[in-house]
Amino acid sequence: MLHGPNLNLLGQREPGIYGSVTLAEINRQLQLEAKKMAVEISPVQSNHEGVLVDAIHEALGKHQGILINAGAYTHTSIAVRDAIAAVNLPVVEVHLSNIYQREEFRHHSYIASVAIGQISGFGMQSYILGLHALVHYLRTQEATR
Ligand code: DQA
Repeated sequence: MLHGPNLNLLGQREPGIYGSVTLAEINRQLQLEAKKMAVEISPVQSNHEGVLVDAIHEALGKHQGILINAGAYTHTSIAVRDAIAAVNLPVVEVHLSNIYQREEFRHHSYIASVAIGQISGFGMQSYILGLHALVHYLRTQEATR
C-alpha cells in the first residue's frame, strides 16, 4: 500500500473533502481486512516522489501487487507512472474523493493507464474496495495459470 503526499495529514487535512479518518486508522482497517482475506499488506507513506518511485521498484520480487493513492502525484508524476510500467506489477489506484467531481486539474490521472482499475470517491471505503479488487484480480489470475 503506497500513500502519497499530504496523506499523512488525513484527519486534519480538509476534512470537508477527506473526512476525519486518519492514515493510521486507514492502515489499521486495511490490516484487518487483509487478515480476513489471508493476505499481507505493508503500508508506506511518503511526501517525496522519488521515495515512492523507489518503493515501487522495491516491490518487485517482494510484493504481488500495489494499492496506491498517489495523492497529487496522480495528476503530475510521469515518474510514478513509469515506475509502475517498469515493474509491471498489478496496480489498483484509489482516491478518497471523487476526483472527477473536483477541479479540472484532478480529472487526469497519469496512473490510470498503467493500473488495472481505479476506485475514487468512497472515502476510506475506497481502500477496502481497492484491496478486494486487487486480491480478486491476483486470485483470478492464479486460478487461470
Ligand atoms: C486524492 C485526490 C488528489 O487529487 C489529491 O491531490 C490528494 C488526495 C484523494 O484521495 O482523494 O492528495 O488522491
